[in-house]
Amino acid sequence: MEYKYIIVEKQDNGVGIITLNRPKAYNALCTPLLDEVSSAIKDFDSDNSIGAVVLTGGNKVFAAGADIKEMADLGFADAYNNEFVKKEWFALEKHTKPMIAAVSGFALGGGCEMSMLCDITICDTSAKFGQPEVKIGTMPGAGGTQRLTKAVGKAKAMQMCLTGDMIDANEAKEYKLVAKVVEEGTVVDEAKSMAAKIASMSQPVVRLIKESINNSYESTLQAGLESERKSFYTTLALEDRIEGMNAFVEKRKADFSNK
Ligand code: CAA
Repeated sequence: MEYKYIIVEKQDNGVGIITLNRPKAYNALCTPLLDEVSSAIKDFDSDNSIGAVVLTGGNKVFAAGADIKEMADLGFADAYNNEFVKKEWFALEKHTKPMIAAVSGFALGGGCEMSMLCDITICDTSAKFGQPEVKIGTMPGAGGTQRLTKAVGKAKAMQMCLTGDMIDANEAKEYKLVAKVVEEGTVVDEAKSMAAKIASMSQPVVRLIKESINNSYESTLQAGLESERKSFYTTLALEDRIEGMNAFVEKRKADFSNK
């Protein structure tokens, strides 16, 4: 697929990079852009040479949300019948490879929601997160009231969604919306090196861990613990588990085969 709104790169170390590239509109998430992101994620998901993905808007802006100009004429029937913010977001939500959001500048509305559906979000000191939909007479529609509440808690989520106020990088860190804050201009490199570290691990183990952590949102503690234990037993059947433990005992770096 030829891409107009994103740049897709594949590194030799198993890292895939998707860069939103609509700078004149602060990477506003128009439908064609979302279709391209979905397509790139699906390609990376089915590519065995890719172990982790970085999703970024580059070192200036992440994304200023859904495209308001596109939404201006959107009515209920069109949105409902065509599953607006559902079908375009499905691939993003269902990605199986660990995905790191590298955020610089604005991550607003759908941009904040896109960062939250990644597995890890890191940002630089210029980052500003917000759910400003209330200011334009609507509300978050792609996880802003759900994932945000789970990440930052009810009081902060209410404040952000009801006032539309943004929070800066420090507050995002304090409220556990991001895993790490780095210096301005370095977030993409930081995300790439984190992704390279993940891509160097055994892919089936990484996937089991990701599924198990995500499962903690959907299940009770006991059910989650049971499922985690079974996943742990599953790793014992992997060649990579034998390689990993032997490498430790022999004081060498493990060479995983993803089997
Ligand atoms: N959609 C479409 N275009 C956008 C946009 C968006 N979300 N955000 C910015 N742009 C465009 C502007 O229209 C402008 O284009 P023109 O030069 O053609 O006029 C360009 O980007 C630059 O924007 P500004 O002139 O406004 O730049 P600024 O520096 O003064 O302000 C901003 C930057 C604070 C990000 C401001 O643009 C803004 O508030 N944007 C809208 C943020 C927003 O409300 N996001 C939520 C969208 S709704 C949503 O996401 C729903 C959902 O949950 C699915």
